[in-house]
Amino acid sequence: MERVKVKIFPNETNELAEEIANLIVSEINANNAADRRTVLGLATGNTPLDVYRELIRLHKAGKVDFSRVVTFNLDEYYELPPDHENSYNRFMFDNLFNYINVKRENIHIPQGLIPTKDIQDFCQNYEAAIKAAGGIDIQLLGIGRDGHIGFNEPLSPEDSHTRMVELDKVTLNDAVREFGDVKLVPTRALTMGVNTIMQSRRVILIATGDHKASIIRKSVEMPVNPEIVASYLQKHSNATFYLDQAAASELTRSSRPWVSGAVDWSNPVLQHHAVTYLSQTTKKSIAELDVGDFVVNLMEGLLKEVPLATLKTKVLNEIVGKIVTNDRLPVKKSVLIMAPHTEDDVVAMGGMMQKLVANMNDVACVYMTAGAANVLDYEAQKFAMAKLIYSQHMGDKVALEKEQELVSNVTQYIAKKKASRFGLPEPIEMTTIKAVVREAEAASACNYFGITRCEFMNGASIEKLHHIFDKYHPSVIFACGDITDPNSAHRLCLRALIKAYQTYTVKDKPELWLYRVDSPEYSPIDADMLVPISTVEMESKIVGTIYHQSQNYKLQLGAKQLWQKVEERMQSQANLMKALGVTGYNSYETFKRFSAVTPAQTATTAVPMQTTPAATVQSH
Ligand code: PGA
Repeated sequence: MERVKVKIFPNETNELAEEIANLIVSEINANNAADRRTVLGLATGNTPLDVYRELIRLHKAGKVDFSRVVTFNLDEYYELPPDHENSYNRFMFDNLFNYINVKRENIHIPQGLIPTKDIQDFCQNYEAAIKAAGGIDIQLLGIGRDGHIGFNEPLSPEDSHTRMVELDKVTLNDAVREFGDVKLVPTRALTMGVNTIMQSRRVILIATGDHKASIIRKSVEMPVNPEIVASYLQKHSNATFYLDQAAASELTRSSRPWVSGAVDWSNPVLQHHAVTYLSQTTKKSIAELDVGDFVVNLMEGLLKEVPLATLKTKVLNEIVGKIVTNDRLPVKKSVLIMAPHTEDDVVAMGGMMQKLVANMNDVACVYMTAGAANVLDYEAQKFAMAKLIYSQHMGDKVALEKEQELVSNVTQYIAKKKASRFGLPEPIEMTTIKAVVREAEAASACNYFGITRCEFMNGASIEKLHHIFDKYHPSVIFACGDITDPNSAHRLCLRALIKAYQTYTVKDKPELWLYRVDSPEYSPIDADMLVPISTVEMESKIVGTIYHQSQNYKLQLGAKQLWQKVEERMQSQANLMKALGVTGYNSYETFKRFSAVTPAQTATTAVPMQTTPAATVQSH
C-alpha cells in the first residue's frame, strides 16, 4: 500500500532531525576521509530547521567539517532581494551557513533578482553547476500542502529542470504566515525542476505536523500522479519519507492498521479505535453496527476476540466515561493555564475557564509569546490614536506631543509599507503597540471570566517556566498541545513546556492537560476528557473570544470570524459524539492528559494508539 519508503518518528522528540543530521554527517565524513566533496541539495521552510540546528550542533561539537561540502538550494522567490527577511538566501545564512564552515564559493542558491532576460541562462548554468559538482549526493525536501517539492507546483512536468514558475494558490496562502499579507507574497519563483531532484542519488523528504497528513497519504499511497508532484518520488530508487506521527496519521498503517496486516486485537486501545472508526465510516452509531460492517471493513478478527454486543457496550462506556462534568473538575486548587498566544486559552478552554472559576480554583493565565505578528497595522494605528485622543481629553500637553509623534510614525510606516512591493521591516514602536494591544485584550478577557492573575512571558525558556511553576505551585496545568507546524509558536511552546515539566522535580507533580487551538478538538478517541459546555457558558465563551478583537478581524469577504470558528469547532465535536450515539450535550471542550501523548515507541514501528486508560481531572 505504501509506494515509497517511510520512516515514522515520535512527535515530541528530536529523533527525526537527529537521524537525518547523523546520516548527512556520516556521508560528509566518509567523503572527507576519501578526499571527495559532498554535494547537498538543501531546502528552506519550517520543516528542515531542526535538522539544520542539529547539523550546527554537531559542527560546533567538532563532529563534522563542511569545508569540502558543496550546496545547492532548491528555490527562491522571484524578485525578492537576497537580504529580505523572507528570502531563502537570507534564510540559509541565518539558519545554517553562518554557523558552519561551508565555503562561500561552494554555496549555490537561485537568485531572486536576476533580470527576466537572463533567467534562462541562469537556470541552465544552475543545472550545469550541479552536474559539474558531480550531482547531488543527498537532497533534502519539504512538501507543500499541495504536494509541491521545491516550488514544483501541481502538474509540473516530470522532465522539468531549473526554471521560473508561478506559485499555486495554496502555496501563496501558506506563505502569508511569513509575509503577513497575501498581497506581499511574491507570485513567482525560481526552482529546481522535478527531473533535477530525481537525479539526486538520495532523496530525503521530511514532513511534520498534522497539517501535512492528508498530502502525505496521497503522495505515499496513491499511484504516481502529476497533480501530486511528491508522488514522483515513488519512482526514485533511494527516496525515503521521514515523518512524525502527526504527518503519518492518515497513512493506512496508522488510521486502519488492520488493513495493512495482522494486528493484536486484544489491545483495548485498538478495539476502541476500530469501533469508533467503523461508526464514522459507516455513518452508523456504535449501537447500530452489525457483524457485516466488521466483515466488510476487514475487522472480523476483532469479533473473534470480543463478542459484538460486549464490544459495543465496552467502547460506548469508554467514551461516556471520558465525559467530565463540573463536580469532577478541580475545586479550590491552584490551576495554571499556559497559552502560546493571548487568545488561545479562551478559544480552546473558555468554557473550562468559567468552570474552574466557579469551582473556586485559584486560576492564573500565563501567555508565552507576545503574538504581535498577528495584529493588523490598522489595529495598532487605532490604539495609537486612542492614546492621542485620551491625552487631548485629559489636557495633558506633554503626553499629547509624544502621542502625536507616535501616531505620525505609525501612519507614515503604514503608508510606506503599502507602497512597497514586498513589505517593510516593522519598527520597534509598532511591534510594541501590537504586543500591548494583545496584552490588554487578554487581561480584559481574563477579567471578564473572573481571573485576575495573568502574566506575559514574551518567550519561554525552561528556566522561566520553572520560575512560573515555582511562583504558582499549580496542582493542574493546562497547555496547548498543537503539533501542526513544527516551527509554529504553538509547537515550540509545547516543546519548551514539556521539557520544563519533565525536569520539574517537586513532590506533588502537577497534572498536565493539553488542549488544542490550531487543530480541531481532540477526537473522542484521542481525548482523555470530554467536557460538556452549557449554552450559557458557550455564550460567555463567545464574548470572551470577542474581547480578542485584534484576532477577530478577517479581511477577506465572507471569511469566518474567530468566534464563529470557535462555535463551529465545539458543535462539530458534539455532532461527532452524537454520530457515535452519545447524545445529551451540544458542545464540548476536549483535553488530553500529557502522559498519554508520549507513548514509548521506536522510530520504525507503526504509530501506536493511545496507551493509557481514560483519566479525569479529579479534585483530590
Ligand atoms: P514548510 O514548507 O516546511 O514551511 O511547511 C514546505 C514546502 O513548502 O516545501
